[in-house]
Amino acid sequence: MDKIEITGGRRLEGEIRIGGAKNAALPIMAACLLAPGRSVIRNVPRLRDVGSMLAILRHLGAEAGFVADNELAVDASKLSGHRAPYELVSTMRASILALGALLGRSGRAEVSAPGGCVIGPRPIDLHLEGLKKLGAEVELEHGYVRAAARELNGAEIDLAGRFGTSVGATINLLLAAVRARGTTVLLNAAREPEVVDTAKFLRAMGARIEGAGSSRITVDGVGELSPAEYEIIPDRIEAGTYLVAGALAGGEVSVIGARPDHLEAVTSTLTRCGVAVFAGKGLVGVRGGRSLKSLEVVTQPYPGFPTDMQAQLMTLLSVVSGTSLITEKIYPERFMHIPELNRLGARISLEDSTAVVRGVERLSGAPVMAADLRASAALILAGLVAEGRTLVDRIYHLDRGYERMDEKLAALGASIRRILE
Ligand code: UD1
Repeated sequence: MDKIEITGGRRLEGEIRIGGAKNAALPIMAACLLAPGRSVIRNVPRLRDVGSMLAILRHLGAEAGFVADNELAVDASKLSGHRAPYELVSTMRASILALGALLGRSGRAEVSAPGGCVIGPRPIDLHLEGLKKLGAEVELEHGYVRAAARELNGAEIDLAGRFGTSVGATINLLLAAVRARGTTVLLNAAREPEVVDTAKFLRAMGARIEGAGSSRITVDGVGELSPAEYEIIPDRIEAGTYLVAGALAGGEVSVIGARPDHLEAVTSTLTRCGVAVFAGKGLVGVRGGRSLKSLEVVTQPYPGFPTDMQAQLMTLLSVVSGTSLITEKIYPERFMHIPELNRLGARISLEDSTAVVRGVERLSGAPVMAADLRASAALILAGLVAEGRTLVDRIYHLDRGYERMDEKLAALGASIRRILE
């Protein structure tokens, strides 16, 4: 298994180009299943999760692959199946998005039910209840979700769940509702930019969707969709991660091609912490090296502070004097990085779903293990400022969601290298 070795203490300086958003690329790839013909998606990051979605599309009979650097073509003219098997789904939860797309295309879908994962239980009740409301018969058998509908019919669906709403369920229901007869209204819909981007792609395919980006989305079903060409938004989580790197170890670090409006929760939190944040045209940057203040932060659905930035922010706050509190409202168990950060000398304890972070003066390098995607990013950030050598194991998690993070940080001046095994 590949590892990443970092020798801490180098100052970061310079610019990083941000790739396309993983969480927009995955649903948009699934959406390609809805229309016979060849769709082209630009600005697709080369990530393991994208590879997993490609494998699913191909398994379903689509011709799908990269045709240029970050350009993907999906030809869904002929689909040969409607079943996404366990072997493919188990590597990535976003595979569940094939459910809505297949149902929309052919009225039939069979997708292995995703299990829990290290960030906690991740039910799909909102997806299934919503599809039932659209008229699908849904059953869970032998570990598979089977959904079938002779005809989908528009309905009013409330997505208010225990954790506010669901990004995945909002998108899955959009994918099915665009082909339903009549009008669907999604209430308490997720407002994430990736939902908006998926809706824009669907509109480019001919779908009639209003209100994406608000908590009420209206979909008027259409009889037919056509393939489309589309460029996806930049990845706000990748951008946020490098801004935290700059806050920790800058120098001046800028992310190029990011959307400042999508990053507001992150930049305002960094500003509150005392980090100097600046924005220019297509650029957001931070200046590190100032003395920072402890914070209280709560993760929330968009436009709140994203759970996908929680671990990285924790690394930053672990070296800020005073006591910070980070409360996780989306995944109350997403704290696997705490014991690993503590191995590096952080002083973090957990009280229910609030991490109590007592700032230390310095971290000290050690071998650590990444348990999930964002946790691995947090450990690499910690390695940038830890004294001596940090070895982060299980880097395959990182490669699910960050394109060449080691190379990008090295270009900023970090002492970092990948050890291939
Ligand atoms: C997406 C993102 C993920 C991000 C998360 C929250 C993708 C591919 N992944 O995941 O990176 O961390 O949004 O911003 O876009 N829930 C239910 N029932 C359901 C569905 C969800 O109770 O049917 C719960 C989940 O367990 C979780 C919360 O709702 O506690 C939010 O989950 P959701 O928004 O669905 O996350 P994903 O779409 O899986």
